Amino acid sequence: MQKRKTVAGIKGMKKAGEKITMLTAYDATMAAMLTAADVDVLLVGDSLGMVVLGYDSTVPVTMDEMIHHASAVRRGAPSAFVVGDMPFGSYQSGKRDAILNGGRFLKEAGCDAVKLEGGLEVCATVTALVQAGISVMGHIGLTPQTATQLGGYKVQGRDVESAQKLVEEARALEKAGVFALVLECIPDGLAQILTEETSIPTIGIGAGVHCDGQVLVTHDLLGMFDKFIPSFVKSYCRLAPTIKDAVAGYNREVRSSTYPDKEHSFSSEPNLRELLGL
Ligand code: KIV
Repeated sequence: MQKRKTVAGIKGMKKAGEKITMLTAYDATMAAMLTAADVDVLLVGDSLGMVVLGYDSTVPVTMDEMIHHASAVRRGAPSAFVVGDMPFGSYQSGKRDAILNGGRFLKEAGCDAVKLEGGLEVCATVTALVQAGISVMGHIGLTPQTATQLGGYKVQGRDVESAQKLVEEARALEKAGVFALVLECIPDGLAQILTEETSIPTIGIGAGVHCDGQVLVTHDLLGMFDKFIPSFVKSYCRLAPTIKDAVAGYNREVRSSTYPDKEHSFSSEPNLRELLGL
């Protein structure tokens, strides 16, 4: 079994110039496959809401749903470094709620750390979580939980004023105690500056190649979620058509009685009817 990574180990990867790979996982089977493929960090993202639970955004996702899926990820990947994404409403109401909910990720789901979205407004909460013994990953730029306030799902930090704000947020979050920082949907030059200006690893999604690591929603990487594909997503295979073809084959064979064939059946005694007295 692989040795479980630690917060110090992940921070050390930046110093060593080693790129960090992070992918989302929501269930045990996928978590086991991603770990076997040597992914550094598994994020139980609140993207769960859209790619697994069928919600229109991440906002409706509850703590109980996150814990249910994070626990499955931990069971499937006992040696993985697992980060639980704090859903909307689980930390905005204050430090106490944040600690109680963050603590659930560690106690009930066996996560190693939590992630939360936001800039200056969440710094006090980050510090409270860290002081309570809960490691925190930050997330700035496009923050999907508050996308409507940001004018929708669009690139952030394009003008000097908003770029300056992101520099301030990254510095403040580092000071507050985050061990790593997700940068979502910002220009690559700005992501490079944020990466150089902070000592914590930056993990980009739609933020260019200069970040210390990258994260993608696994369903996007595998071409399984075709409702909405952001332009920064690279699908390394297209599982959706493969799955549809496989299911069409199953339908055809069941309907034509070619599945199950002899190879996929348990043969019975040739004279079973007689043996049963029928
Ligand atoms: O919920 C999620 O999957 C995320 C990543 C896209 C960073 O927050």
